[in-house]
Amino acid sequence: MSKKTHSTWGGRFSKKPAELMVRFSESVSFDQRLAPYDIFCSKAHAAMLCKIGILKKSERDAIHKGLDAIALRVKKGQLKWSTKLEDVHMNIEAALLKYTPAAAKLQTARSRNDQVVTDMRLFFKDICKDIITVLTKLQVGLLQLAKVNQDICIPAYTHLQRAQPISLAHQLLAYIEMFNRDHMRLKIVIDHANVCPLGSGAVAGTTLPIDREFVAKYLDFVDTKGRPQLTQNSVDAVADRDLYIEFVTACALCGTHLSRIAEDFILWNSTEFNYVMLPDSFTTGSSLMPHKKNPDSLELIRGKSARIQGQLQILLTLVKGLPFSYNRDLQEDKRPVFDACDEILISLQVMEKTLTKIKVNRDVCAIAVADVNLLATDLVDFLVEKGAPFREAHRAVGRLVALAEKEGVMINELKTIHTRRIHKLLDGDWKNVFNTEYALNKRDKIGMPGPRQVRRQINRWNKKLGAH
Ligand code: ARG
Repeated sequence: MSKKTHSTWGGRFSKKPAELMVRFSESVSFDQRLAPYDIFCSKAHAAMLCKIGILKKSERDAIHKGLDAIALRVKKGQLKWSTKLEDVHMNIEAALLKYTPAAAKLQTARSRNDQVVTDMRLFFKDICKDIITVLTKLQVGLLQLAKVNQDICIPAYTHLQRAQPISLAHQLLAYIEMFNRDHMRLKIVIDHANVCPLGSGAVAGTTLPIDREFVAKYLDFVDTKGRPQLTQNSVDAVADRDLYIEFVTACALCGTHLSRIAEDFILWNSTEFNYVMLPDSFTTGSSLMPHKKNPDSLELIRGKSARIQGQLQILLTLVKGLPFSYNRDLQEDKRPVFDACDEILISLQVMEKTLTKIKVNRDVCAIAVADVNLLATDLVDFLVEKGAPFREAHRAVGRLVALAEKEGVMINELKTIHTRRIHKLLDGDWKNVFNTEYALNKRDKIGMPGPRQVRRQINRWNKKLGAH
C-alpha cells in the first residue's frame, strides 16, 4: 500500500487526508478512554476468529499477548496516541501491528461501526455501576443526616410559602426516594446495555462463519442464566443510539434532582432562612466582601445540571435527522456521554461531602415551625372531626386567620367568645390543636411525617442501603 495514503483504508485513495481534515475528524483525543473496552473486545474477537479457524492458535496468542502489553502501556499513560490514526480503534490496531503481523487479520468480519457500539455498551455497564456507588453513598449520607437530626422540625413549603410542619428527616427521606428512582433508571440502562452488537459488521453482518454467541459470552453480555444476549438486527445495531440517550437522560434527571436539593440548601443557608450552616470546606469567600461565605459547591451543582441537560439535547438533535444506519455524525455522540457521566459523578460526590458536613440551626428551625398558621389546616380537620362539612370548616378557619391578621395576633390568641361567633364548634378545646408534636403524632399513616412513620422509613432505608 502506498505510504501516501491512510494505512487502514487507503486502498482506493491516492492522496492522504489534508492536515486540516485530520485535525477535524480525529476522535482519539476523547475516545481513548474506551481503550480498555476496545482491547477486551479485540481479545474476544481474536479468540472467536481462532475458534472458527481464521486465526491460528499461535496468531491468537500473539494477538492476546500484544493486546495485554498495549493495555498495560495505556494504563501507565505510555501509549502514544496519534490523531493521524483517527480513533482509539485504529491506534490500537496500529500499535498491535508492531507486536505481531497477525494484527492484520484482526479486523476480519468486524467494522469500527460494530466495534465502537460494543465498546460503548461495555463502558455503560461499568460507568452506571460507578454512578450507582456514589449515588448510594449520597443516600447513606442523607440518611445519616436524617438520623442525627430526627427531632428537628421545619415548615414544609408549597409555593415557597410555609405550609405544614414536618420533620427535617421527612424531607431528607424525600430526597432519598428521589435518588432511588435514579438508581432504578441506571439499572435499566445497565440492562439495556447488556446486549452484544459485535458481528453486525459495518451494517450487514459478514459472509464469514463467525460465532456471535461465543463473543457475547466472552464479553459477559449474558442474562442471569448465563445465556448470550445478541442484537437481532445488524442495521439497528450500528444505527441505534437509544442507550446513549437513555444514559444521559438518567444523568440529566439525576442532575436535576441534585439541583433541586442544592436550591433548598442554598435557601436554607441564606441569612433569611438560616436553617443550616454549610461547611467551610465547600463554600468560598468573596474577593471584595469580607463577610461573605458563598454556597459555591451547591451553586455549581445547580449550574452543572444545566450542562448535563444540554448534553442530552445534543444527542437528541444529533440522531433525529440521521438516515439509517451509521453516519460519521455519530462520532459526536461520545463527548456528551463522557461529559454527562463525569459531571454527574463529581456532582454527586460534592453533594455528599457538602451535606454530610452541614450544621442544622435547631433554634431557628424551632422558631419557624412554631408558626401557628402551619396548623390552620389541622384546625379544619378538628372541625371536620366534630361534624362540620369540610368546605364550611375551611371557610371558618379562613375567616379566623383574617380576623387574627386584622387584630395583629396569632390565631390561637383569639378569644373563644369571638371564635364561637365564626363557627359554633370553635369552642372548648379548639386551641389544643396548636401543638406541633401533637400535630405530627396524628400524621401516622404510611408516607406521612409522623415520628413513628419517619422512624419506620429510616429503618427501611437502613436495611435497603445496608447503612447501620
Ligand atoms: N470513530 C468512529 C466513531 O466514533 C468509529 C466508527 C467509524 N466508522 C467509520 N466508518 N468511519 O463513530
